[in-house]
Amino acid sequence: QNLTELLRAMPKAELHIHIEGSLEPELIFEMARRNGVAIPYASVEDLRKAYAFTNLQSFLDIYYAGASVLLKEQDFHDMAWAYLLRAKADNVIRAEIFFDPQTHTARGVSMETVINGLHRACTNAKSQLGIDAELILCFLRHLSEEEAFDTLEQALPYRDKFIGVGLDSSEVGHPPEKFARVFAKCRQQGLHLVAHAGEEGPPAYVWSALDVLKVERIDHGVQSVKDPALVQRLAKDRIPLTVCPLSNLKLCVFPTLKEHNIRQLLDAGLCATLNSDDPAYFGGYMNDNFVQTFEATGLTKAHAYRLAKNSFEGSFADDAKKREYV
Ligand code: HPA
Ligand code: ZN
Repeated sequence: QNLTELLRAMPKAELHIHIEGSLEPELIFEMARRNGVAIPYASVEDLRKAYAFTNLQSFLDIYYAGASVLLKEQDFHDMAWAYLLRAKADNVIRAEIFFDPQTHTARGVSMETVINGLHRACTNAKSQLGIDAELILCFLRHLSEEEAFDTLEQALPYRDKFIGVGLDSSEVGHPPEKFARVFAKCRQQGLHLVAHAGEEGPPAYVWSALDVLKVERIDHGVQSVKDPALVQRLAKDRIPLTVCPLSNLKLCVFPTLKEHNIRQLLDAGLCATLNSDDPAYFGGYMNDNFVQTFEATGLTKAHAYRLAKNSFEGSFADDAKKREYV
């Protein structure tokens, strides 16, 4: 079996996927039409042409605009179902899926609509696709602590439909500390905790995600290599990093895929994983990330097995499930 075949065929977990970032232009146009929402693009091709990003913020502006076509529970279901079918094709057997409720509640869509639509797709994925799919609610860090508390309160009636919380959106200028009290409350609720840190932001944000928010995983975390003491800490505590190479390439975090530091992270003994982040915007789902990253950086078969193992170890599956996966 050659390396590419192995990468495609091996069972894996995806731990860093924003469901709104899986919304393909074709689905944006279909939902805009069926919901009567106006979008400022003439065609699918015209919209795709706008996907030329220079940094995180340039992407977020268009990502939030794309999500404006989502109104009904069926829309949220259909978006998640389309992702889960793609995940199945890439031999993803577990997916821990981020969603951004504030993007929708700010437009008058109810929390119930968002969560029930996404959760129905996750339930069907278990029975129809054999994928264990779980939801993680993300707070938008460019909004206030108070808005995060409001969001949590609206979501707690659906506590049994998501397994954890995360922190995403514009990183620089919005350090993890801003959400210390929100995360403390989520911890009391028994929710799993993760946060984006060290995507564009400094190692200090990774430290505070760990020590102030007490997160169990770091999303991205690639800037951690700038601080050797931090790399040691991540290794010692086996803190998973959910790395997204094609995202990092498209948002100019690394100038080329060849210069990505995934090999350095793995060879330092970290629990690094590969993920797609926002596949509809960054030009690739899970296997595209694996195949292109391995080609560009010269990762080996041993790295492939390590990445698959790390994805299950880093997941929030219970121990019995983890044994079943490996
Ligand atoms: N970083 C921060 N926020 C996001 C991202 C990301 O990569 N994708 C979707 N929201
Ligand atoms: Zn992300």
